[in-house]
Amino acid sequence: MSDALKLSVVIPTYKEVLNIPLITQKIGEVVGQHCSYEVIFVDDNSQDGSVEAVSVLQQQGYPVRIEVRTQERGLSTAVIHGISTAQGEYIIVMDADLSHPAEAILPMLSKLESGVADFCVGSRYVKGGSFDEDWGIFRLLNSKIATWLALPLCSIKDPMSGFFGFQRSHFPKTHLLSPLGYKIGLEILVKGRFKNPQEVPIHFSDRQHGESKLDLKEQVRYLRHLRRLYTFKFPAASEFVQFGLVGGTGFLLDSLFYFCLQLAGLTHDMARAISFWPAVTWNWFWNRTITFTDRKKDSKFKQWASFVTTSGFGFVLNFGSYKLLTDYVPFFMEHKYPALMVGVLMGMGFNFMVARVLVFRPLEKEVLEGDTTDSFPEQK
Ligand code: GDD
Ligand code: MN
Repeated sequence: MSDALKLSVVIPTYKEVLNIPLITQKIGEVVGQHCSYEVIFVDDNSQDGSVEAVSVLQQQGYPVRIEVRTQERGLSTAVIHGISTAQGEYIIVMDADLSHPAEAILPMLSKLESGVADFCVGSRYVKGGSFDEDWGIFRLLNSKIATWLALPLCSIKDPMSGFFGFQRSHFPKTHLLSPLGYKIGLEILVKGRFKNPQEVPIHFSDRQHGESKLDLKEQVRYLRHLRRLYTFKFPAASEFVQFGLVGGTGFLLDSLFYFCLQLAGLTHDMARAISFWPAVTWNWFWNRTITFTDRKKDSKFKQWASFVTTSGFGFVLNFGSYKLLTDYVPFFMEHKYPALMVGVLMGMGFNFMVARVLVFRPLEKEVLEGDTTDSFPEQK
């Protein structure tokens, strides 16, 4: 065995004093005979005796230390901090609460060492994996939906897992990471552009001590986190989908006005001409806020005006085709609403292309490379 440290196990903790000795002993039993290792707890100032528990373990000879953070909080940044102080050639990240079986560390490590995988996940959802049965239907569905939403980003079945490992030299540059919420494993996997992630089956047991910190706020964060990862991995496609979703809701608004104005006595083409305005303003606002967050922040009015202007051209296409179809094509003379849809689609395709280049102008390249996070306002 060489002097170089083989493995660093990084464990984020918040109020885990009862679990710290248990997980340390467990890791010692499993890994101690096999290779050199260190255990790094990254604690967000729990002040529950965690620090004292770690010094007792040190006196007993365990290669363990604790980093206490007082300025920052949060699972993901804790994990990143732990990794950046780690010395081992390989990193394994796991929970403190014994949900992740330490026995899986060696099979994970061996996949990494042999080069079979460049990223390895302890997984509930591959053959041989499982979890405690008493998950309520809500928690189960919740976890499933969260997992499905992440599937296009990576090729593994349990992208939510907080139990994962990789070679330390492959850790993505930290400025690329914009950790938001819980799913730091998924973030490292996507941003590190790992080519060959693999899974080792685990049984995920419910915690015995303390309580879970996963709440509704975390889930909203998760959705925002996913959006960023999609934008990172599929920039153009994810913009198109978001533009489409915004346009879809704008279309509903457009339709609502179109019908209501006619009920109020306006002619169908007057109604059509007016319903454009609330819809275009709606679309501008949400495209600025969501679809094109990482673009230049031009002044609101100027940008709205240029969105309206270019949308005006789109609208000429939109309204023009509506007019042509409803005036000259017998089918559409009878069925005016489908003509509206054709017009909207033509206008939208045009608008997307122009919006990407002219209205929501891209940032200069240097700025983009320095910071890949979006500027969506953080709610802390
Ligand atoms: N430092 C720090 N700061 N640690 C934290 C924080 C925090 O703000 N919040 C949670 N932790 C630690 C906990 O002490 C625990 O060791 C680990 O992170 C996981 O937290 P739990 O609260 O036990 O999470 P969970 O059981 O709901 O979620 C588990 O399942 C997910 C998959 O469904 C975890 O394994 C997640 O990592 C996993 O993604
Ligand atoms: Mn847990």
